[in-house]
Amino acid sequence: MLYRYIFRILAALAVVSWSPLSAEDIDLESLLKSMTVAEKLGQLNQLAGGRSKNLNSRIDDTERDRIRSGSVGSYLHVAGAAFLQDLQKVAVEESRTGIPLLFAMDVVHGYRTLFPVPLAMASSWDPDLVQSVSGVAAAEASASGLHWTFAPMVDIARDPRWGRIVEGAGEDPYLGARMAHAQVTGFQGSDLSDPTTILAATKHFGAYGAGVGGRDYNSSDISERTLHEIYLPPFYAAHEAGSLSFMTAFNDVAGVPITSHRGLLREVLRERWGFGGILISDWNAVEELINHGVAGNRKQAAELALRAGIDVDMISGAMHGELASVVEADPAAMALLDDAVLRILTVKQRLGLFSDPYQYHDPEREKRVILAPEHRTLARTAAQRSIVLLKNDDRTLPLQRNPGTIAVIGALAGDALSQLGSWRAQGKAEDVITLLEGIRQAAPDAIVDYVPAASDRASDPNLIAQAVQAAEQADVVVLVVGEDYDYSGEARSRSSIEFPAHQLDLIAAMGQVDAPVVAVLVNGRPLAVSPVDEIADAMLETWFLGVEAGTGFADVLFGDVSPAGRLPATYPRVTGQVPIHYAALPTGRTAHPDLSRDTVRYMDLPITPQYAFGHGLSYTRFSYADLNISAREVGPGESVQVSVTVTNIGDTDSDEVVQLYFRDPVASVSRPVMELRGFSRVSIPRGESRRITFTLISDQFALYDHDGNWTVEAGDIEVMVGAASDDIRLRGGFSISESATITTPPAAIPTAVSVRPVVEDLSALVDPAVTPQIIARGTHEALMTESELYRRLCDLQFNSLPDSQRAHKDQYIETTT
Ligand code: NOJ
Repeated sequence: MLYRYIFRILAALAVVSWSPLSAEDIDLESLLKSMTVAEKLGQLNQLAGGRSKNLNSRIDDTERDRIRSGSVGSYLHVAGAAFLQDLQKVAVEESRTGIPLLFAMDVVHGYRTLFPVPLAMASSWDPDLVQSVSGVAAAEASASGLHWTFAPMVDIARDPRWGRIVEGAGEDPYLGARMAHAQVTGFQGSDLSDPTTILAATKHFGAYGAGVGGRDYNSSDISERTLHEIYLPPFYAAHEAGSLSFMTAFNDVAGVPITSHRGLLREVLRERWGFGGILISDWNAVEELINHGVAGNRKQAAELALRAGIDVDMISGAMHGELASVVEADPAAMALLDDAVLRILTVKQRLGLFSDPYQYHDPEREKRVILAPEHRTLARTAAQRSIVLLKNDDRTLPLQRNPGTIAVIGALAGDALSQLGSWRAQGKAEDVITLLEGIRQAAPDAIVDYVPAASDRASDPNLIAQAVQAAEQADVVVLVVGEDYDYSGEARSRSSIEFPAHQLDLIAAMGQVDAPVVAVLVNGRPLAVSPVDEIADAMLETWFLGVEAGTGFADVLFGDVSPAGRLPATYPRVTGQVPIHYAALPTGRTAHPDLSRDTVRYMDLPITPQYAFGHGLSYTRFSYADLNISAREVGPGESVQVSVTVTNIGDTDSDEVVQLYFRDPVASVSRPVMELRGFSRVSIPRGESRRITFTLISDQFALYDHDGNWTVEAGDIEVMVGAASDDIRLRGGFSISESATITTPPAAIPTAVSVRPVVEDLSALVDPAVTPQIIARGTHEALMTESELYRRLCDLQFNSLPDSQRAHKDQYIETTT
C-alpha cells in the first residue's frame, strides 16, 4: 500500500516536471521515470492504423486523440511519408511526453518493388542477393515513412500443406539461418539510425511451422531437441545479425502458447541468447491466450504476456487496458513494465527518432526511391536466380529465340497479381511483367498463342479444347500451371498438395499433344507434381517472382541465363508422403526399395521423394573431383577445411550450388542421415574449374543433449559434397578428438567458403620476371598453401578476364586463406 502511495506521488511529480523532448542524447532512464503508468502502458500498445490492403484507413480524430493522450506507442498497416509525418507530429508536438511513434508494416519481399517470395529467394541459395533485396525493401519502406517491418519470417516448414511455407526459407535450419541473417542485415544495415534502414522483426519465434497437420495456427508438439536443433537456429542467426525485435508465434509448443512461454522467451531468448530488443506478440495473440485456455480473462492474459516477456501487444489492447492495477499492486510487475518500456524507448532511440523524429518523412525521397529503375534491375536478377530447373529431357531448354509458334497455355501465365505472392505491401499488379509478357518481349519474332484455358479456378472443357488446338499447332508448348497467390500464405493451409482439380484436366489434355511441353510451375508451396512431370519434357519451378517475373523468366527460358536455383524444400510424390524431409533420422529399419523387407516405408510409394532438397539442374553439367580434408582429427574449437574442385564440363557458362552435408554416424542419440553445413553458389564459365574450400569448426557438429546443452561428441564425422541431397559426388571424413560443450546452435554457425580459380598451366599466367618462385614451387596444391603468392596469382588471372566475369570478383578471388 505504502509503495503504491509513494509511487503515485512520484508519478504526479513527474507529470509536472517533464518537458517535451528535444535533446539528441536523451536520457531514457529519466524519461522513463517521468512517465505515468498510463503512458508506459501506452508504449506497449500497438494499434492498426488501417488494414493490410487498406492502409491508414483507421486513422481519424479519435486516433489522433489517442496519440495525444499517450496511449499508443506504434501503428501497423500505415504508410506514406507525408501522411505519417503529420501523425508523428501529433505524438511529438502534442503529447505530454513527446515520445515518437513507431510505424510498422509487413514488408516481407519488397515494398513497391516486389521481389520473388521468400521461398523463391531461398531457392537462389544466394544470401548476398537476399541481403541486397532486403536492403532495397528497407530503402523503399523507410522512404515511405516506415520504421519497422514484420520480417524476416524464418519459420522452418517441413509440411507443405502449411500455406505459410511460402513466407520462409523452407525445411532446413542451416539454409534458413543464412537466409535469416542475410535478411536482417539487409533490412537493418549497419546503422539503424540511418533513415534508409528499418528495424527487423524476426518472426514467428518458437515453432510456428510445426503446427500439427500443416494447419495454420495449430498446436505443435515437438521434442526439445527438434525445437532447438531445427526450429530455433534461424532465429539465433537473426539475433546474431542484430535483429532488434522478434515476434512470437500464435501457436503453442506442447501446450504452452508461445506468447506466454516464459521458458522460451525469458530463459532462452533473453537470458541464454542475450536478446535485448523488443518482443512483440502477433495480431491479437495476447487476448487469444484466453482461447488457448491458459487465461480466464483479458487481465490474466495481459499479465501472462508481461511476465513471459512480451513488450508490445499487437492490437489486442489487453496489456494497455488491463495492466495498470497489476503493476500498481506488484513492484515486480512494475519492474517488468519498466524494462519493457525501456526496451521500446531504446529501439526508438536506435532508430534515431529522438534526434530527428521526422527523418523518415521526406516525400521527395519517397518519389525518387519507390520503384526506382535499379530496384527493378535487381528484381530481374533475383527472378533469374530463384528459378529451379527441375527436369530437362533431351535438352528441351533453353528454347530457341524464334522457335516458330509458342503456345502459352494456362491462366497463371497472364496473372500479374499472383506474381506478387502473399504480403505484397504496396506492390501493384500494374507494375508486374507477367510470364506471358516476358515471352512476348524476349521473342518478338515468334508467334505467341496464349490460351488461359481456365477462368475463376474452374475447369471448362471448351477452353481446354481450345488449348489443345493451339498446342497442336505449336512448335513448343509452355504450360503454366500451379496455384494462384491465394492458395498459399496466412490461413491458406490445404489438406492436399495435389494440383488444384481444375488444372488436372488441362494437364492431362496437354499430355496428348506432339509438341514438346515445357511445364512452368507457379506456386507458393511444393506441390505433388507427378501429373505434370509425366507429360512434360522440361519443368521449371518459378514460384512467384515479383515485378520482373516475366523478364527474369524469359532470360532463363531462352538461355540468356542458365538456371541454378535449388529446392529449399523436399517435393513429396503425393500428399500422403508428408511430412518428408531429407534430414530424417535413420531408424532401426532404414527404408529399402524391396517390399518383401519390413522397413520404414509405405507399401504403395517409392521410398524417395519426387524431387529432393537441394535439387536443381542447369544448362550445363558439373563434375566434382579431388576432395581434400585438411585434418584427420579436429580438437575442440579447431577448424578443418574441406576442398573440392568443380568443373563446368558442358558448353554453357553457369552457376553451380556446391553443397556440403555431414553425418555423425555414432552418437549418444540418433543423428540425421545427413545435414547441410555449407554451400556456395559459384559462377563457373564452361570448361573452367573452381576449387571450393569450406572451413568448418568442430562446434558445427554439436547436438542438443539430454541435459539441454550443446555437446560436441568425440568420434567420426562423415562429410558429403555434391550437387543436391540426393546427388552426393564425393565422400570423406575426419574425427573429433575430444568432447566439448558449446553455446551456439550449430546450424546457426556460418561456414566460411572460399572460391579459387584452378589454373592448369600456371606459367602461362605468371610473369616469370616478377614471380619466378611461383613456378619453381611446382604444383597447384602446393601453391594454395602459400596464400600471399597465391593471391598475387589470382589477381593476375583476374585482371586478364573479360569485363563480364570481372563483375564476379567476390566469388572469383579468395576471401579467406
Ligand atoms: C499476423 C501474421 O501472423 C504476422 O505474420 C503479421 O506480421 C501480422 N499479422 C501483422 O500483419
